[in-house]
Amino acid sequence: MTDTPAVDGEASRGNTSDAASSSAAPAEPESESDAPDALASSAAPEDASNMPSVPAVEFNDVTLGYRSVKGDRHVVLDHFDLSINEGEKIALIGSNGAGKSTIMKLMVGLLKPAAGTVSLFGSPIGNKKAEEISRQISLVYQNPEEMFIKDSIENDISFAMRVRDVPQWEEKTAQLLERFRLTDLRNRDGRLMSGGQMRRASLAIGIALNPSILLLDEPTANLDIATRREIMAVLDDMKDIIKTAVIATHDMQLVCQWAERIIVLCGGKVVADGTREEVFGDKRLAQLVGIRPPEIFTMARALDDDARCFTVDEFVSGFKEA
Ligand SMILES: Nc1ncnc2c1ncn2[C@@H]1O[C@H](COP(=O)(O)OP(=O)(O)O)[C@@H](O)[C@H]1O
Ligand SMILES: [Mg+2]
Repeated sequence: MTDTPAVDGEASRGNTSDAASSSAAPAEPESESDAPDALASSAAPEDASNMPSVPAVEFNDVTLGYRSVKGDRHVVLDHFDLSINEGEKIALIGSNGAGKSTIMKLMVGLLKPAAGTVSLFGSPIGNKKAEEISRQISLVYQNPEEMFIKDSIENDISFAMRVRDVPQWEEKTAQLLERFRLTDLRNRDGRLMSGGQMRRASLAIGIALNPSILLLDEPTANLDIATRREIMAVLDDMKDIIKTAVIATHDMQLVCQWAERIIVLCGGKVVADGTREEVFGDKRLAQLVGIRPPEIFTMARALDDDARCFTVDEFVSGFKEA
């Protein structure tokens, strides 16, 4: 898909307030959304707690392709099904081009399926107003710079709350700045900050409206070791505030430390869906889709065929006990 010039629904600065709404400059997906107001979202639907059997997100027979400028059609998802339940912490993994970002954009309404439905809490996104989608789900883009549309991160963080008249938005903004260690940087333009600061600010923007579902597209990509560690700690910390979360990532250490369910995508299809043991224990699968377990897992297996260590802590305690 080299010949599709546009940006495929990524946010473009200045386009909107709601960074998400901005993103609706969908390249040339076969159908693009008119309901893109989805970056920062807010509360879960009020009745969500009364309907535990309804998935938080559901893909039903979804087909989506991109059309090149020459008119050729490239199908990314073909009759794709997936259910995500409330409360799940999911890692979405798979090589570049597997469809991770496309799936996330469908979930927030930045892309529309050519066929099939994507539903949030039981009702199709296509039937929802942008406002409603944005109250339920939030996407933090792979490129944090795309989250900044104002002249200061304080304004970026507060913006979605201000336009929705969220009570005490000033106080909430201050709390978010504090929580993400950004108070001293609040007047800085997000695009001029360091990689780690940008990531922290993009996470703060993403959770500003207290979304019931948070999607993070490669939150630890291109970070140095110290910053990555810091973001990992922030993500761990966020587990309490965000009920349902999906992280698309190549970072297997993050996957093993953070995720409770791992979905492996290959060529737009789910080729595995399970626990760390199920996914990384299957050598055939790892070879097939080119995923590699964390180094520590491989090292532990070299010492003991039955080792089940996925993190350094597990390695240390596992071999101490043995
Ligand atoms: N704007 C676009 N125009 C054309 N093709 C695209 C566009 N965005 C993504 N694709 C194609 O869709 C497929 C899935 O891409 P993507 O969802 O970005 O995968 P991932 O996030 O797993 O790397 C790839 O083949 C990619 O080339
Ligand atoms: Mg991607």
